[in-house]
Amino acid sequence: MILVTGGAGFIGSNFVLDWLRVNDEPVLNLDKLTYAGNLENLAELQGDPRYAFVQGDIGDKALIDTLLQKHRPRAVINFAAESHVDRSIHGPGEFIQTNIVGTFNLLESVRGHFTSLNEAEKATFRFLHVSTDEVYGSLKADDPAFKETNRYEPNSPYSASKAASDHLVRAYHHTYGLPVLTTNCSNNYGPYHFPEKLIPLMIVNALAGKPLPIYGDGQQIRDWLYVTDHCSAIRCVLQAGQVGETYNVGGWNEKPNLAIVHAVCDLLDELRPRASGGTYREQITYVTDRPGHDRRYAIDASKIERELGWKPAETFETGIRKTVQWYLDHQDWVANVQSGAYREWLDKNYAGRAR
Ligand code: NAD
Ligand code: TYD
Repeated sequence: MILVTGGAGFIGSNFVLDWLRVNDEPVLNLDKLTYAGNLENLAELQGDPRYAFVQGDIGDKALIDTLLQKHRPRAVINFAAESHVDRSIHGPGEFIQTNIVGTFNLLESVRGHFTSLNEAEKATFRFLHVSTDEVYGSLKADDPAFKETNRYEPNSPYSASKAASDHLVRAYHHTYGLPVLTTNCSNNYGPYHFPEKLIPLMIVNALAGKPLPIYGDGQQIRDWLYVTDHCSAIRCVLQAGQVGETYNVGGWNEKPNLAIVHAVCDLLDELRPRASGGTYREQITYVTDRPGHDRRYAIDASKIERELGWKPAETFETGIRKTVQWYLDHQDWVANVQSGAYREWLDKNYAGRAR
C-alpha cells in the first residue's frame, strides 16, 4: 500500500481518486484537515476497502511512526503543505511549521521506517515529495523556462518554506540514503480546487455576480497544468523515476493572468450566460498587487518527457472547459466550502485592496 499525506486537499484528493481508478493498490490518507482539507472530495470512496483515512499532522512523529509500523507502506507521497502564497504573506508561521518542521518530522519517521525494511523492501521503497516551480523564483520575459538545474531563488514565505523542505528531502537522500524523488510542478487547476486560488475564485465570484480581482496589471505569467496530468506525472515518477532526482512537471501552457480570467469569463458566457445580459468580463476589477509578486514562472518539462515518457493529456483549452463545467455541475460543493472562515479570508485579503 501507499501512504499519501495531504490527500484531502486539492491535488491530493485528485491523486487518491485517480490512483484508485487506475489500480487497486490500497491508499492510506493522512491529513490534518486544515481549512484546505475536505473529506467531501473523497466521498465516493466511502466503504471502499482499498481506502483508509487518518486525521493527523505530518509533524506528529509518534503518530506517523505508529502508522508506518502498522501499515508498512511501500511508498510515501507527501502532498501535505500550506499552499497559498497570499496566506503566507498574511501569516508565514504555519508555513514554517508544516512545510519545513512538518516535512522534517515526516522524514525522520520515514528514515526510521526505512531502516526497519529488509533489503528487497528497501530496494523498492520510495519517498516522493511534491513541490513547486515557485522555488526557482521569478523569470524575465525572455528567460528560458525553469530546468531542474536552475538555482533556487524563492521570493515568498510559501516558496521559501517549500524550498527548505526540498533541501531537507535532498539531504536525507545524500546523508542517509533515503530513496527520495522530488517533483516541482507549475500551477495546477481542475476539480476540487479551493476557491482562494485564481481560477476557482474567478469562477465562483463570476457566478455570484462579484468582482473578479486582478492583482496589479494582470500580466504576470504562470504555466498551467491540469490536475489529472499532474497525477499521472507523479505515478510515472514513482514508478520509474531515478532515486535522488528531481523532475519538473508542466503543461506547456504559459499564460498571463488576464488571459486566464478572460478564458473563464468567455466559457461562462457560453455555458451560463449572465441573467442581466452582457459579459462576465464586465466584473473584472484591478486591485492592489501582491507584495513581492513573481512576474513569470515557466516549466521546461523535457526531462520527465524524455526520461520517463510522460506527457500532459490536456491542452489549456480542454482543461479549462472541463474545469468550468465541473464547477457549474458541483454548486453544492462550492456552497459547502464557503464557510465563515472562507468569508473571513476574503475580507482579510481583498477588503483593503480596492484601487
Ligand atoms: P491544498 O492547500 O489544497 O491542500 C493541502 C492539504 O494538506 C490539505 O488537505 C490540508 O488539510 C493538508 N495539510 C496541511 N497541513 C498539514 C499537516 N501539517 N499535516 C497533514 N496534512 C496537512 O494544496 P494543493 O494545492 O493540493 O497542493 C498539494 C501540494 O502540491 C503542496 O505541497 C503544494 O505545495 C504543491 N503544489 C501545489 C500547486 C498548485 O497549483 N496547487 C502547484 C505546485 C505545487
Ligand atoms: P494563485 O492561484 O494564488 O497561485 P500562485 O500565486 O501560487 O501562482 O495565483 C495565480 C496568479 O493569479 C498569481 O499571479 C496571482 C494572481 N491572482 C490575482 O490576480 N487575483 C487573485 O485574486 C488571486 C487569488 C491571484
